[in-house]
Parts: sequence; structure tokens; C-alpha cells
Amino acid sequence: MKKLLALLLALVMVFALAACGGEGETTTTEPPADDTTAPDDVEGEGTGFIGISMPTQSLERWNRDGAFLQEQFEAAGYEAKLVFSDNEVDQQVSDIQNLIAQGVDLLVISAIDGAALNTVMDEAGEAGIPVIAYDRLIMNDNVKYYVSFDNYYVGTLQGEFLVEALDLENTTADAPKYIEFTAGDPADNNAPFFFNGAMDVLKPYLESGVLVCRSEQTEFNVVATEQWNTDTALDRAQNILSSYYSGGEHLDAWLCSNDSTALGVTKAIESDYAGGNTVIITGMDGDEANLKNVVDGLQAMDVYKAVANEADATLSLAIAILEGTTVDQAFIDAAGWEFEASLDTTSYETSEGNAATSILLVPEVVTKDNIQEVLVDPGYYTVGDDGYLVAVG
Ligand code: BGC
Repeated sequence: MKKLLALLLALVMVFALAACGGEGETTTTEPPADDTTAPDDVEGEGTGFIGISMPTQSLERWNRDGAFLQEQFEAAGYEAKLVFSDNEVDQQVSDIQNLIAQGVDLLVISAIDGAALNTVMDEAGEAGIPVIAYDRLIMNDNVKYYVSFDNYYVGTLQGEFLVEALDLENTTADAPKYIEFTAGDPADNNAPFFFNGAMDVLKPYLESGVLVCRSEQTEFNVVATEQWNTDTALDRAQNILSSYYSGGEHLDAWLCSNDSTALGVTKAIESDYAGGNTVIITGMDGDEANLKNVVDGLQAMDVYKAVANEADATLSLAIAILEGTTVDQAFIDAAGWEFEASLDTTSYETSEGNAATSILLVPEVVTKDNIQEVLVDPGYYTVGDDGYLVAVG
């Protein structure tokens, strides 16, 4: 009898562990409070096991992405296991290997390093497991699908915002505007897209001398920030300020590709900039600390990418892949999404000549003036008692 009880107890523990993920790095997140984005056409019908691998919990957005993905897959009837890999490439490789060993039917992966998952992507290919590269492309031909925002266009929006805010069209080279640049992680395939999108807008003004970068640091590799780390961005910004602006030299703007880097640059401006004027700082992601800075006038704009919609598109794509539906324009047209997205089968190559079938969503500019309309009214954020935005989900 005792043996039977022990066996039953062991079985219960095995099932409990399986249900909550078992491994230490696995995180089960609460579903978003506002579930308006869950696709209603697919609710509860799916069968299959989805492995979701996100880069890190230390950068705000991936917590939201992971939660939305897991919640939406589960609401559609799938079993979904979510793992975060602490921004460690080796850990992500072994996390994905574990998901493969556990028998996932499909993988959704946001890579820490888009070039470093080769072996494990080959293993997924050999096991016949389809992979959706989520937000960040993975450089392996077994990765046939990609869901992201139009990354180059994010940069275009930031560049165009600066042209307008600095009034560059009415500026002359004898009284130029001054700018510095901070880009993202070189291991992240998205980072050059963001930077080039902005640079392509700003380059003509730099070339004509209407816009001047006193540090002359304008190349992606020079202005990049490993792992999009806030402290790394802060340190570099402080160095630039002490080397080129310590005599009270004027600075008008600082292009930052995203919010984690903008946070570091904003801190450096607050502590080390002697010019006295408000420096126009850009960002991306809608991180709560940055939206607070937008409300307080410390960050001029943010590019918002609705991750709930990105997760929604990923779910529809995964269902299509698992059910053998062709992913073409007709699929996009029939998807019934309440957001704009386009199909791109040429831009995002996993190797030369091999482009992933990509679904690209459209980012939006947020400023102090439209924050209510773009972020609060659609239900992405609520306004807390202190007047600052709180992300839903
Ligand atoms: C994402 C950005 C994010 C950055 C750092 C990029 O791949 O597209 O939204 O700011 O990673 O997390």
C-alpha cells in the first residue's frame, strides 16, 4: 500500500513539474489583464506543444512578449512552455535543446545572437520542428518564418522625428544643430536596421553640415551597445560628454535606437551635460521608465511596437504552419487582424538568396501629445495614480 501511495505521489509530482515547467529558468507568466487581443477565431481548438524561447527578463519588453505569447497560445488550446535565457547565448542553446528533447511541435525564438544558434537550429531542422524567428531574425535556413515590426521603418520614424524637431529644413550650416548617436547590440540582427533607417534620413543633413556630430562617432560599430545594456550606454554617453562637451558646448539631440539605451543616455545628460538646454532623445519599446520620461519631457519620443499584436500574428502564423496552410498574401488578407501587417518574402535573408517568409507589423510614434490616444485609448497601458503609464499584461 505504502509503495502504491509513493508511486502515486511521484506521478503527481511529475505532472505538477511538467505543468509548471520544471527547470529553474522556466517562467510561467500570468495572462495579460486585458485580453482584447486574443484571437477569437481559434480559441481552444489547437493541439500541440509550443516552445517559446525569449532572450532575457532584464530588458522590459521580453517579459511582455513572453507573457502574451504564452497566454495567446494557451488560450488557443496549445500547451506552451516559456523559457528566458538570461542573455547568455550558451544558455539559450541548451534551453532550446531541452525544448526539442521535450518534443515541441513548433519553436518561437527570439535570439540573443542571431548568428550563434546554428547548431541547435540544425537540430530543430533534423527533428522536423518548424521555427518562427520572433522579432529578431536567426541566420539559419531551417528558420523559414519571421514575425517582427518593420525594423528599418522604426529608424526612419526616429530620423524623421529629429528632422522635424530640430527644424533641419530651415537650419543652415553656419548655425548647425548638434547630435550624438547610440545604437543597439551588434549581435542583434535588428540593430543595424534601426540605425540605418535613422541614418539614411539624417545623413544628407550631416553631409551638408546642417547637422554636426562633435564626437564624429557616426558608424554603427562605434556607436553600438552590447546587449542593449543601459549602463554601457550610460558609460559611453558620459565619456562623450566629458570629452566633447565639458566646456558647455551645445548639444541638441541624441539618437537612441531603443529605450534601454535611451535610459542610460538620459541619465548621463542629467548628471554630466553642462549645456542647460533640453536634449531631444529618441527611444523605442514603450518601457514604463521611458514613458515616464516622455511625460516628464526628458525623452522626446518613443517608437511603440505593440507586442500583443506581434504575439497575435505569431499565433496565427504558427497555426497556419502546423495545419499546413500556405503563408501567402491570401493568408494575411484572411487573418482578420485588427492591426496592419504586411508579407515580405525578400528582405530578411537567413543566408544569401534565402529569405524567410516575414510578417511585418507597423510601429507608431509616441510623444507627450499623443500618448493617451496611441497607448492608453487602445488599451495597451492604463494611467496609474501618479499620472504615469502602466503596461497592461
Ligand atoms: C527589439 C527591440 C528591443 C531590443 C532590446 C530588439 O531586437 O526589436 O524592441 O529594444 O531588442 O531588447
